Amino acid sequence: MPCNCCEITDSAFGEKEAKSQLREYRRKGPAKQTRFILEAIRSLHLKNAELLDIGGGIGAIHHELLEDVASTATHVDASSAYLKEARNETARLGHTDRVKFIHADFTDVEANLPRADVVTLDRVVCCYPDFHRLLGAAARHSQRALALTYPREAWYLRIAWPLMNFFQSLRKDPFRVFMHPISEMDGLLQREGFQRVTLRRLFVWEMALYQRAAD
Ligand SMILES: C[S@@+](CC[C@H](N)C(=O)[O-])C[C@H]1O[C@@H](n2cnc3c(N)ncnc32)[C@H](O)[C@@H]1O
Repeated sequence: MPCNCCEITDSAFGEKEAKSQLREYRRKGPAKQTRFILEAIRSLHLKNAELLDIGGGIGAIHHELLEDVASTATHVDASSAYLKEARNETARLGHTDRVKFIHADFTDVEANLPRADVVTLDRVVCCYPDFHRLLGAAARHSQRALALTYPREAWYLRIAWPLMNFFQSLRKDPFRVFMHPISEMDGLLQREGFQRVTLRRLFVWEMALYQRAAD
């Protein structure tokens, strides 16, 4: 699907937001839904894994998993401001040699990227219009596990999401949030050879961990 998603996302996730998220991460550690992803991946007891973090923002997932689970990480993000903060934190933690940063829409560059053991998408599918394209490509890049968070199909979010988009349109901001059908995302991942092994919920976010069925 032709789409200028990367430009739209780049301007939606700007410098102020990125700096404030990094401050928050340094003060309090990973957000709750991110902690669900970290706990789910740690439950697999992987060592020296290669991580692909799509839309990793300030990089919380690789900052954490490089401590015990992952040996290397690739962080692909459409936001240059988030990548800048992620790089700063990566350097502060002494992880620079182990992380590759790519500023792009993952669907534009995925053909040139190798597969990883673990793929993560924390609050990313809800920023992208075509979940088939994004999640399909993410699944094909995972050799063992894929963890993602997305908005729940709760009645209050079915009201809130269109309202957020309505205010975005009033502001003439082209960025939109998406509530993709969970059963369709699950079906896609099953067709790509995954089965869901963990499901956890917060008020807004749901976290699902998938493993390759043969594992
Ligand atoms: C809501 S933020 C979440 C950031 C981080 N994962 C977190 O949970 O704090 C969404 C992130 O996904 C990125 N993103 C959205 N669609 C993307 C795509 N197709 N390719 C790469 N990055 C994408 C945005 O640039 C942004 O950094």
